[in-house]
Amino acid sequence: MLPPIDRPFTQSVTLRLPPVTFGAGSVGQVAEEARRVAASRVLVVTDPGVASSGVAGHVRDLLEAAGIATGVYDRVPAEPSVASVEVAFEAWRAGNYDAVVGVGGGSSLDTAKGISIRTANDGPVSRYFGVEQLPARGVPYILLPTTAGTGSEVTPSAIFDDTDRQLKAGIVSSRLMASAAIIDPDLTVSCPPHVTAAAGLDALTHALEAYVAVKANPMSDLYALEAVRLVGQHLRGAVARGTDRVARSGQLLASLYGGVTIVAAGTGLCHAMAYPLGSAYHVPHGVANALLLPAVMAYNLPADLTKFARLAEALGESVSGLSLRAAAERSVEAVRQLSRDVGLPGGLRAVGVPESALEGFVPGALSAARLITNNPRVPTAEGVLHAYRESW
Ligand SMILES: [Fe+2]
Repeated sequence: MLPPIDRPFTQSVTLRLPPVTFGAGSVGQVAEEARRVAASRVLVVTDPGVASSGVAGHVRDLLEAAGIATGVYDRVPAEPSVASVEVAFEAWRAGNYDAVVGVGGGSSLDTAKGISIRTANDGPVSRYFGVEQLPARGVPYILLPTTAGTGSEVTPSAIFDDTDRQLKAGIVSSRLMASAAIIDPDLTVSCPPHVTAAAGLDALTHALEAYVAVKANPMSDLYALEAVRLVGQHLRGAVARGTDRVARSGQLLASLYGGVTIVAAGTGLCHAMAYPLGSAYHVPHGVANALLLPAVMAYNLPADLTKFARLAEALGESVSGLSLRAAAERSVEAVRQLSRDVGLPGGLRAVGVPESALEGFVPGALSAARLITNNPRVPTAEGVLHAYRESW
């Protein structure tokens, strides 16, 4: 029997979320939500893959059928940059729109946020990197995820690559809140297995980092542990059988709960270490997290054995009869096994990162102050380099 966790509210917590609609068929709400924000001419923002799957077209049809005019911008790149937001904003400017609807993975949703930011603030968006640096709220935007992972539809943040400065960073602001999040598992059915796997590990990383975070609290713990349990239960099925609606639904709920945990408690060292990989080597965000997560867990484990033991349990590990430390260590192996089972690469070397580059990532990781200060163990440069090497 694991010891109970004493979880007092030691600080005040504000849980700001957009109106959330979750469940199969929720996409049918899109026109109603658009009307609620008085949208009459909407730009649908998506990427080429989601456009060709027909999902974005379906959303447009629903809006048009309700008498709302639409245009589409379908050239969102895999990892959006400060520059790519400017290109998308030009499409907005050309069309006399009054609202944005983002349909896709985290890249499309963050680009929709970027467009909204630019409708009320000067560019480039990199000038608003950091916490509460955004002067004004932009036009309304509605977000519909087609991958289960980023939780971007509920978070008040957007991540962009500043390619000039080789820096990937986030804009976090209470002025960055979706007008509505419409979360429909049927929209994730066409998501390919490798994207499902990477996004799934991103959701797991959100929940796991928030669960052990400095800012963790009883509210975030509730969502975090359930998100971890849902990923452990459903990710393998969602990757192996894309049309399994139970697995897709469970995984998308995990992603939503992961997003809620970001809002309630934030993430930590794994995300801080992932951003330089995305910026310098274009390692997709979910893959970067998946590759780094076991080593970061091993580094953080001494800070809270009880919580890591509970994570092992949530991932389906049997911990009865084990010492607290052995139980906690099971969580690291469970995450490694999950990554293997869903076909993610075995290490940073497998995604083209040379060993000689690892040391250069350390300052960038340690500069992400809002993540570093939220990590349960104060990271040292040596500790971070060791974790990169263990992940190579
Ligand atoms: Fe993430």
